[in-house]
Amino acid sequence: MRKILVTSALPYANGPIHIGHLVEYLQTDIWVRFQKMRGNRCLYICADDTHGTAISIRAQKEGRSEEDLIADMSEAHQRDFAGFGIEFDNYGSTNSEESLKFCHEIWQSLRDAEMVVERDIDQLFDVDKGVFLADRFVRGTCPVCGSQDQPGDNCDKCNATYSPAELVNPVSTLSGTTPEIRSAKHLFVQIEKLHDFLAEWTQSGTLPPESANYLKNFFLNEPLRDWDISRPGPYFGFEIPDSPGNYWYVWFDAPIGYIGSTQQWCDANGEKIEDWWKSDQTEIHHFIGKDIQYFHTLFWPAMLKTAGFKLPTKVHIHGFLTVDGEKMSKSRGTFIEGAKYLEHLDPSYLRYYYATRLSSKVEDLDLNPEEFVNKVNSDLVGKVVNLASRTAKFIKDTGLSAEYPNDGGLFETFASRGSEIAEAYEAGDYSKAMRMVMELADQANPFVETNAPWDLRKDPDKAKQLQEVCTVALNLFRTLAIYLAPVLPDLATKAGELFGEKLDCWTMAQTPVTDRPVAKFKHMMQRVDPEKIEIMIEESREKSETEQAAPPISSWNDSDEALKADPIAEEISIEEFFKTDLRVARIIAANEVPEARKLVQLTLSLGGEEIRNVFAGIKSAYQPEELEGRLVVMVANLAPRKMKFGVSEGMIIASGPGGKEIFLLSPDAGAVPGQRVG
Ligand code: MSP
Ligand code: ZN
Repeated sequence: MRKILVTSALPYANGPIHIGHLVEYLQTDIWVRFQKMRGNRCLYICADDTHGTAISIRAQKEGRSEEDLIADMSEAHQRDFAGFGIEFDNYGSTNSEESLKFCHEIWQSLRDAEMVVERDIDQLFDVDKGVFLADRFVRGTCPVCGSQDQPGDNCDKCNATYSPAELVNPVSTLSGTTPEIRSAKHLFVQIEKLHDFLAEWTQSGTLPPESANYLKNFFLNEPLRDWDISRPGPYFGFEIPDSPGNYWYVWFDAPIGYIGSTQQWCDANGEKIEDWWKSDQTEIHHFIGKDIQYFHTLFWPAMLKTAGFKLPTKVHIHGFLTVDGEKMSKSRGTFIEGAKYLEHLDPSYLRYYYATRLSSKVEDLDLNPEEFVNKVNSDLVGKVVNLASRTAKFIKDTGLSAEYPNDGGLFETFASRGSEIAEAYEAGDYSKAMRMVMELADQANPFVETNAPWDLRKDPDKAKQLQEVCTVALNLFRTLAIYLAPVLPDLATKAGELFGEKLDCWTMAQTPVTDRPVAKFKHMMQRVDPEKIEIMIEESREKSETEQAAPPISSWNDSDEALKADPIAEEISIEEFFKTDLRVARIIAANEVPEARKLVQLTLSLGGEEIRNVFAGIKSAYQPEELEGRLVVMVANLAPRKMKFGVSEGMIIASGPGGKEIFLLSPDAGAVPGQRVG
């Protein structure tokens, strides 16, 4: 019996669980369930990742404390996970006493090993909010290509990478103000000191070959850079005990949360942490996405090694989810939250569909809605559940045959594939396991069709034959349900109820059951209704639109000068507003007025015969020639005013303090003269 501790990455507490996350948690849950069915001792440990700037910002925006936010998030995450049948042995939090204890322990070891150094670094500081800004909270003009409104670390337009301090006109997205460069003390861990160890460990078969090769070629070829492990306060996290005012960067305490959460489980179950995290008898398996591999394959093993903890036995790395070949997107409605999915669809569908798409390779996987419907309906409903739904009802009075009938070697074949299917699960090659199971199902269905129990039932002389055919079909179904149990625990439970047992052990698939009653067949799985998928996508789209309608954090840095110079006027009613008849007009002629320095004489057309003569005080900002032909907005019902040079029959709309700074308002393309504005 193996002793296996399994983790999934700790989801950030700053957002809900979505179907991208679920790739990982379902993949892990399937593996854990498989190990448990194999009779191994297996713990599934997880927690919320609660520290860092993003959490503080969200809490601030929602007007509550970080603790309040993370408590709610933890509840929501756990509810969603449970909804998908993901069963943790412990679900903790990085913001726990247990985690803090191990942070101290590991930190002390790094200090003792003299791997921590101090250096001053320049960082952008938001004076308004009083915080140092992480790269993603700064935007500005790319120092390389000059594109505006680019993120703090790399340019979307030219792909250049730079430090936020190099941005031209940087703006804090938190306050909209211009941050200043400030120097602050940071603590660094010199992982280069473990270069040789990491070079060996990463190449020891612990990582998928793609990742191992990548590390070998790009990271271990040169000295490993010191790891910046601290952030100056204020920062939501743990304060570093021997460096007051500085906090551990969220990625320091995040993986330590694995150990902290295990400690909670140990406390609840009377076990010792050493037996899991410091024992040679235990395997440790991490499941993570490709975006966080360096933390798990360089920093984390360096921390564990230094502090004398057990090193991961395997790091299972998966790719990213795309929907219909594209990145999940809020505007397309494919950024689907777990909770939203559960409102409309059976979690078993997604568990099965992901299983058919997952291999041991580090590659992205696609959720194709059409294929999703087809696979679930034809494989699960059509091939597997159908075996039972078409036969169980015929032997609910007689039960299973006393002895297992001659089935021409079918059950033999089913039982003999068990070890190969198990190997595929063990290797994380679920798509292969699913293929093998469906190949078996493809052999079982012709057996039922050829023997047509629905015909046998009509002939009382064939009662024994009917019982035998159904005994075979149900046993084949039972074996398939066992092979699928890690993926479809719900189906396994319902299948077990048919035979009055729990299908929780892999070896049960090796022996047929006979001579026992069969319970009344209960509905096991519904076909996917494609319309529900459409509704789900539609609702996901709507939701993100209303979310976006909330006032965004401005990244434009607009000053309040204009408002201060000219405050907003007294409130008016809508009726009062509509007394002003604003219209789109075209300037069909513009001429200087020789006697007036400031004025331009405009001939405005409101369409058709409606022509107006207007004197506008815009000469300081516009040359008459550049005005002809353009559309403007005018007040069309202003009383005519007699001026020195003629009658002015309206007014055109502009903003700005005057002089060169006068800005005419123009409608967007498509507007035509005469249209009302309002
Ligand atoms: N908090 C860190 C992990 C700390 S582990 C000590 C984190 N959190 S996360 O919420 O952003 O992501 C959690 C896991 O979900 C990661 O392994 C990540 O790769 C995975 N996924 C998040 N979005 C994903 C997809 N769209 N597709 C597949 N997996 C994705 O990273
Ligand atoms: Zn650029």
